[in-house]
Amino acid sequence: MENFDFHVTTDIRFGKDRLSELSDVLNNFGKNVLLVYGGGSIKKSGLYDELYDQLNQNGNHVVELAGVDPNPRIETVQKGVQLCKENDVDVVLPVGGGSVIDCSKAIAASVFVSGDLWENFVLKRNYEGPALPIVTVLTLAATGSEMNGTCVISNMDAQIKLGVHGKSLLPKVSFLDPTNTYSVNPYQTAAGSADILSHLIENYFNATPGTEVQDEIAEGLMKTVIKYLPVALDEPDNYTARANLMWASTLALNGLVGNGKKGSWSCHAMEHELSAFYDITHGVGLAIIIPRWMGHILDENTIPKFQRFAQEIWGVDEEDPKRAAEIGIQRFYDFLASCGIPMTLPEVGIQTEEDLQEMAHRAVEHSSISTKGFVPLNEDDVESIYRAC
Ligand code: NZQ
Ligand code: ZN
Repeated sequence: MENFDFHVTTDIRFGKDRLSELSDVLNNFGKNVLLVYGGGSIKKSGLYDELYDQLNQNGNHVVELAGVDPNPRIETVQKGVQLCKENDVDVVLPVGGGSVIDCSKAIAASVFVSGDLWENFVLKRNYEGPALPIVTVLTLAATGSEMNGTCVISNMDAQIKLGVHGKSLLPKVSFLDPTNTYSVNPYQTAAGSADILSHLIENYFNATPGTEVQDEIAEGLMKTVIKYLPVALDEPDNYTARANLMWASTLALNGLVGNGKKGSWSCHAMEHELSAFYDITHGVGLAIIIPRWMGHILDENTIPKFQRFAQEIWGVDEEDPKRAAEIGIQRFYDFLASCGIPMTLPEVGIQTEEDLQEMAHRAVEHSSISTKGFVPLNEDDVESIYRAC
């Protein structure tokens, strides 16, 4: 196991009926609030009205940034920064999924960044400056953004989507009420769970030896998602299912299962190019890529970990290690398909092969997958993984 720091200070307020605590939380930071949300799901679910009652009673001055797109854009970040400056905002309050939270993180930091935000914030990839305090109300179990210091921002004109990391991007407080995810439709529920699984898998398939704690926790979280995703799809308002998916999303990407391991992730770099070029749903892109990536890297060095994945996660009882590994990968694919996830690129509207080479080039250029992946991947590897999708 490698050395690591684990200092994740987000104050988690998990469970139902806790929004009455929001006023006290916000009062620690000031009265002027930037409320950030997406395309309107919070209005339909009633959460918006509930929040407003709370904020009005508390005498907050609220400025709104509505309409954050999935795969949030740099232009929306710029709008939010302007609102913060014009209204002397004290605290940023994203209410939504990973896109809304990520956009808010970028706004909270970019208030302190001068010049062009794409150049001076996103392209830097690591941010060491200050940020306005961020308080989140999560409405979709997926990214883990509610308890990590990462945001992912897109520049659609340049077809580039990149992650930025910084300690000050970590939310101060996150409200995790599973009932706020009852209204998430089956497609986004499945995509979010595929994203949770992807974070666990990206950490699990890592070459650092001796990380049994992280691997056992990852296995437990994977099994939890596999158990409760079908329940949430059948019964959208099953509290136990939604609660377990929500907490799994947070723990999958707050450092708990990733710390102590070196190297870089592989599949996210490939997926971010798909989203940057075709604006697809992140979790769906990962569901399509991961089984093909697994097949591509399966060899005598990787078989033992895949055999363990097959046995522990999918209960595969097959003695031949390679065969066991292959069955495990197939069960994973079948599970994702059975949850209604489109499992090929044409199914998500990517019909042409003309961009695959350029996307492969950029996936390598924008990340360290060619040197530090679980199995290093060059442009040809990435292109053939895309082609297998
Ligand atoms: O915009 P609204 O109307 O809110 O609708 C959203 C959106 O259409 C909807 N939704 C969210 N909560 C809902 C709901 N619909 C009904 N009821 C609710 N309670 O779901 C759709 C997708 O929302 P989005 O926020 O885009 O999904 P997700 O949470 O999966 O976030 C995806 C973004 O996060 C990035 C992805 O790349 C992508 O840009 N990631 C962020 C990470 C991080 N910060 O650590 C790590 C991840 O690997 C990922 O890259
Ligand atoms: Zn992800």
